[in-house]
Amino acid sequence: MGKTALISGITGQDGAYLAEYLLKKGYIVHGIKRRSSLFNTDRVDHLYQDPHVDNRDFILHYGDLTDAMNLTRIINDVKPDEIYNLAAMSHVKVSFDIPEYTANTDGLGTLRILEAVRLLGLNQKTRIYQASTSELFGMAREIPQTEKTPFYPRSPYGVAKLYAYWITVNYREAYGLHASNGILFNHESPIRGETFVTRKITRAVARIALGLQDTLFIGNLSSKRDWGHAKDFIKAMYLMLQQNEPDDYVISTGVTTEVREFIRKTFSAIGIEISFLGKGEAEIGKIVNINSSLFEDTVGKTYLKSIIKRNSQDPVVVKVDKNYFRPTEVDMLVGDSSKARQKLGWIPEHDLDSLINDMIIADLELMKKESHIRKGGYKTFNYFE
Ligand code: NAP
Ligand code: GDD
Repeated sequence: MGKTALISGITGQDGAYLAEYLLKKGYIVHGIKRRSSLFNTDRVDHLYQDPHVDNRDFILHYGDLTDAMNLTRIINDVKPDEIYNLAAMSHVKVSFDIPEYTANTDGLGTLRILEAVRLLGLNQKTRIYQASTSELFGMAREIPQTEKTPFYPRSPYGVAKLYAYWITVNYREAYGLHASNGILFNHESPIRGETFVTRKITRAVARIALGLQDTLFIGNLSSKRDWGHAKDFIKAMYLMLQQNEPDDYVISTGVTTEVREFIRKTFSAIGIEISFLGKGEAEIGKIVNINSSLFEDTVGKTYLKSIIKRNSQDPVVVKVDKNYFRPTEVDMLVGDSSKARQKLGWIPEHDLDSLINDMIIADLELMKKESHIRKGGYKTFNYFE
C-alpha cells in the first residue's frame, strides 16, 4: 500500500506540482480545495479523476483553513501519513489590504491543522510539513539567511507566517509531532500566480513581443530575491517528511537578483535588449536592440515586423507605478541552504536562466492563443495587477 498524503492549497502552484510528484511516487493524494464561484482547479485538472471511478488515487475535498471543524473532519476521514500545509493567502502586498483574514488563514489555519492531528490522536502517525517562508527574515539581520538568522517580518503575511512557524515548533516540542518548517525562498514556475512579480514580468514580456500590450508597469525595481524553480522546491518538502526526526530547513538557491535584472534577462531571452534610464518613479526601461534571429527563433517570424515598428515609434516598454510599492518592503533576500543540501541531499536542478526560459516559453505559447482569439475577432483583456 502506498502512503496517503493530504495537501492543503492543492490548487496553488506548489500544491499542483507536489500532487503530481507524490502521485508518481505511488501516493494516494487527497487535496483541500476552496469553494469558489468559478472553477479554481486549473492547475490540477490534468490529475482529476472521475469521482464515479473506484480506486482513485487523487481525491479533492471542499475545505477552508478558517474552518476548524471541516479540517478536523477531513483529517479524520483521510487519516493521512503526511500533511503538507500549503494553503495560505500568499500575496505579501494583498496582506496589507486583508490583514485579519491573512492572520486567520496563514496563522490560525496552521494551528487548526496541528490541533486536529493532536486531538484525533494521530501524533505518531501523521507527519506535517508547514510552508514557512523567507518573508520571516524580512528586514534581514544577516546575509545570507540561515536557519539561525533572527526573524524580522515586514508585512501582515510575514507576521502571520511567524505565528505559524512557532506554533509548528511548539507542537513538535510539546506533543512530539513530526512537524517540520520549510523556510522556502521565492520559487516560481510557468504556473506561478499571475500577480507575483516574476510571472507578471514573463506574461508582460510575452504580450509585448506579440503586440498585445504596450507597457509593463512595475513597482520596486531594486528589491532583490533569491528565485528558484518550484519543481525543485517541492522535492525538499517531500524530503523533510522522510527524515527520522522533524526539523526546520532553509530552501534556497543562494543567488540573489534584482527585479530590474529579472526584467532585463526575460526580454533578453527573446532577443530584446533593454536598458534602464532615470531614477525612482521616473525610471524607464527602453529597447536598445533587437536580435532578429533570436526573436524569430523564440517568438516567431510573424511578429518581428511589428516589434521593430513599435520600437521605432516608442521604445519604452517598462514604467514604474508607485501603486505597486508596499508600505514596508523586504529589500533583499538570499538564503544559505547548506543544511538542507547536507542533511536532505537536496540539490536544485534549475538556475535562474533556465527558470526564466521555462516561464517565457510557456507564456509565449499561452499568449499566442490569445493573439489568435483576437485575430478571430473575439475580445481579450489586459490585467494590470
Ligand atoms: P499559491 O499559488 O498562492 O497557492 C495558495 C493555495 O492556498 C491555493 O490553493 C489557494 O486556493 C489556497 N488557499 C488560500 N486561502 C485558503 C483558505 N482560507 N483555505 C484553504 N485554502 C486556501 O501559493 P504557492 O506559491 O503555491 O505557495 C504555497 C505555500 O507556500 C503558501 O503557504 C505560501 O505562503 C508558501 N510559500 C510560498 C513561496 C513561493 O515563493 N511560492 C515561498 C515561501 C512560502 P485558491 O486556488 O482557491 O486560491
Ligand atoms: N507582486 C509584485 N508586483 N511585486 C513587485 C512588483 C509588482 O508589480 N514590482 C516590484 N515588485 C517587488 C516586490 O515589492 C517585492 O520586493 C518583489 O518584487 C517580489 O514580490 P512578489 O513576487 O510579490 O513576491 P514576495 O517576495 O513579496 O512574496 C513571495 O515570496 C515569499 C517568499 O519570500 C510570495 O510567494 C510569498 O508567499 C512567499 O512567502
